[in-house]
Amino acid sequence: MVVSGARPTGRLHLGNWLGALKTWLRLQERHECLFFVADWHALTTDWAQASDIRLATEEMVLDWLALGLDPTRCTIFQQSAVKEHAELFLLLGMLTPLPWLERNPTYKEQRAQLVDRDLSTYGFLGYPVLQAADVLMYKATAVPVGSDQAPHIELTREIARRFNTTFGPVFPEPATLLAETPRILGTDGRKMSKSYGNAVYLSDPPEVIAQKLARMVTDTRRQRRSDPGEPEDCPAYVSLHRAFCTAEELARLAEGCRTAQIGCLECKQTMIRHVLAELEPIRARRAQLRPPDAWEALEAGNARARRIASETMAEVRAAVGLP
Ligand code: TRP
Ligand code: SF4
Repeated sequence: MVVSGARPTGRLHLGNWLGALKTWLRLQERHECLFFVADWHALTTDWAQASDIRLATEEMVLDWLALGLDPTRCTIFQQSAVKEHAELFLLLGMLTPLPWLERNPTYKEQRAQLVDRDLSTYGFLGYPVLQAADVLMYKATAVPVGSDQAPHIELTREIARRFNTTFGPVFPEPATLLAETPRILGTDGRKMSKSYGNAVYLSDPPEVIAQKLARMVTDTRRQRRSDPGEPEDCPAYVSLHRAFCTAEELARLAEGCRTAQIGCLECKQTMIRHVLAELEPIRARRAQLRPPDAWEALEAGNARARRIASETMAEVRAAVGLP
């Protein structure tokens, strides 16, 4: 069983697609998979802002469906619709030592970086315990995540081990499936992220996508058309050209860049053509989808997730000695 979740962030961008989603699409072909909207997790950093969760869930799930996540092949559900997650979170919290949470690198990093948020809460510290509950509930054997989430899955294994040695073997220890995904950069050269305002969205109209990419920063040494550049120092080339162009095109464009035989706009046109062509079938599918399609997929998935969760919780309660 494969389990993974994503916070409800609304419309997906190229980074989300080439990162998590490509891996999920591959996994749904070969494994039993559960993919969920981690809506309670969204509250761990933005506890006062629950109002956008509904729309953000709908938009994200519509993009999942457009990309090809298929509710007949995998289970798509909402964390908050399966209350058992809260119960397992509570029980796992009893056996999780505080130092395990305090030494979590993501916790320390986010406390230091997101200074404008109130992260001095019990919920934020306990975030990885909730994540452990999400994963262990379905007895996941593998969890596809980015490297930033790897410490959480490690902690999930430690929690599973502690539970099993105390109460008997209930949970398998899930493996981390580290996605070998490229780091997709945004139009300003930083990591593509909704919060940086540098993202190219799957649902942007083609002309907007072309325009955003045409304006994306390149190697700053190419001030004039006659200045040679270095593709390895070009944010467009290292992330988007690499992700979308063929090997021959990459070689030709790199050569043209280093010898100043092509301009940046011309160079990017090759990449832009590929991006638009690959997005076309996704756009066509997205245009056929309506909000009820997202909610229907979630309803069916929620029901299935609840069935599994209630079985696991019966086992857990018996193991712990609860009525
Ligand atoms: N913490 C993950 C993120 O921020 C989302 C998440 C929640 C998750 N529960 C999970 C991922 C369980 C994998 C498995 O991206
Ligand atoms: Fe980047 Fe291409 Fe411009 Fe070189 S020519 S800096 S690779 S966009």
